[in-house]
Amino acid sequence: MNNYSINSLEQYFKIYRKSIRKPKKFWGEIAENNFTWYQKWDKVVEFDMQKAEFEWYKNAKLNITKNCIDRHLANKGDKTAIIFEPNNPEEPSKYITYNELYKEVSALSNVLRDQGVKKGDRVCIYLPMIPELAYGMLACARIGAIHSVVFAGFSSNALSTRINDSECKLVITSDGGYRGAKTINLKGIVDEALTKSPSVERVLVVKRTDAEIDMQSGRDLWLQPLIDESETTSKAEIIDAEDPLFILYTSGSTGKPKGMVHTTAGYMVFTAYTFKNVFNYNTDDVFWCTADIGWVTGHSYTIYGPLLNGATTLMFEGTPSYPTYSRFWEVIQKHKVNQFYTAPTAIRSLAKERIEFVQNFKLDTLKVIGSVGEPINEEAWHWYNDHVGNKKCPLVDTWWQTETGGIVISAIPFVTPTKPTYASLPFPGIKPVLMDELRNEIEVNQKIGNLCIEYPWPGIARTIWRDHQRYIDTYFTKFPGKYFSGDGALRDEVGYYRITGRVDDVIIVSGHNLGTAPIEDAINEHQAVAESAVVGFPHDIKGNALYGFVVLKEVGLWRDRNNLIKEINQLISDQIGPIAKLAKIQFVTGLPKTRSGKIMRRILRKIAEGEKSEFGDITTLVNPEIVEEISRESL
Ligand code: WT7
Repeated sequence: MNNYSINSLEQYFKIYRKSIRKPKKFWGEIAENNFTWYQKWDKVVEFDMQKAEFEWYKNAKLNITKNCIDRHLANKGDKTAIIFEPNNPEEPSKYITYNELYKEVSALSNVLRDQGVKKGDRVCIYLPMIPELAYGMLACARIGAIHSVVFAGFSSNALSTRINDSECKLVITSDGGYRGAKTINLKGIVDEALTKSPSVERVLVVKRTDAEIDMQSGRDLWLQPLIDESETTSKAEIIDAEDPLFILYTSGSTGKPKGMVHTTAGYMVFTAYTFKNVFNYNTDDVFWCTADIGWVTGHSYTIYGPLLNGATTLMFEGTPSYPTYSRFWEVIQKHKVNQFYTAPTAIRSLAKERIEFVQNFKLDTLKVIGSVGEPINEEAWHWYNDHVGNKKCPLVDTWWQTETGGIVISAIPFVTPTKPTYASLPFPGIKPVLMDELRNEIEVNQKIGNLCIEYPWPGIARTIWRDHQRYIDTYFTKFPGKYFSGDGALRDEVGYYRITGRVDDVIIVSGHNLGTAPIEDAINEHQAVAESAVVGFPHDIKGNALYGFVVLKEVGLWRDRNNLIKEINQLISDQIGPIAKLAKIQFVTGLPKTRSGKIMRRILRKIAEGEKSEFGDITTLVNPEIVEEISRESL
């Protein structure tokens, strides 16, 4: 990135002011100076916040893979683009150079073409954290197909729902995957999902575990033989700035998952510029983001942001606890990692283990450490700062969302003084505002409000796949003219933002976004269940855990409660995935409801947090007596 690098606090304020006063000039210059285009734009941005319409770099033509790969070949062809660190530490790491990446992506893009995938078609990628996942995404981008990566921890039902929503034509998966001591039968899950997903014509299978799997003839093909026969060069399609690059599903507070759509040019500019500045990436640094690529963090900061900067990015297949709690630190030492980006839940789970697990490793290559996914509590912040950053690496607490495409509030390392639990200052181009329930802007400090953003930025999602109305309703209606994040936040005297958590019915468990509605739907499928409500409660390691209040149909009939609990959790696991299982299930005779029939979750949340008496105003309930009963029997 050749311009607008942020190297001092003074410069940050200067750049920030400019980005807000003259956003078109600002984002225009960044796009102008750092990328290759087939054709430049007519307008930097055109937008309508009411209709939620955004066009960045209007009419520009490009291919993001030219920017991620081709343009680095002349000077950096032999540089490592991706370091692959396998689950099993005994298995050798792989170092994939930019030249090799070019060949792999080209070959796979040719395979996709041969299989009839065309520009605009959707391809579902359901893979473990192996290099083919990166190749798959980039191969889609090369030919203008839209990738929809589904986290390989999701169940067959969740996979099928996502495939159906975007009508994917082809699935890339593997025979299986390794995660810690477990082997996961991915192909079996895909087979099951496809019994309910008629749009899929072809499944390409990567060999990873050598597990015995069924190959359905006429539908399933092993990938490697096709790659071996393919040309290793591939024409990069000409893509319009606003053509979709990918769909990524995120949970909503109600209804089915939302297919957030990101388009090409704006996402490219935003992830490249944020990556460079938020992580202070310098040539030859090794960057490691531990997030699974099934989440947006992996899309933006394992793949696109680093590759756009010609960086070396590390992909890790395993888990922080396998074979020991030292694994992260071992990998940092082994690959001399310079920037390390992880989630508070991982930090908390490692901080509870013996300190020797981290102390026995050389972490002095680290320059910047980062946190993302949920608020980082003070204790975890200090542990991370002291034992991993050795009190010398700036800790950047980065706030953003699937919807924002990239980091929107964060400290800039070596520039912004950090303050535990504060994400700190907005990134250039981002104008946060806090709104109260009456839709007034909160001007005073230290007051919690609804966190909104006033002006669009290039990385903002463009729509929900084939449901633009839902996009408008979810993000642009409650506070007209603004983007509403669904998070609460406060601002201190200096202007630092502290994110206080979700203000809607999304619960973040171990950094995973979970909507309550689909979990309740899964519970209600049990024949014994009349209705249910799920809320979050604070958990030492996961941040939040799930508490379900369940009303049974005919109470007397269901004596074996333990079995019922198991069956309910099994249903959740089947419908969504094991991450959504309930930590506590309380059987109740009714749920607190308002006259209009709405469950008053506020009260259930308090009960789940252990509150016994202070429930605020409960006079609007039709059944106030139930509150006492539920709280008396709470777990
Ligand atoms: C939600 C978005 C953005 C990548 C990972 C999650 C929470 C994210 C922080 C942070 C406090 C955070 C918010 C947000 N969140 N980062 N640094 N401090 N909360 O993406 O799955 O779309 O989740 O994660 O609640 O709304 P996502």
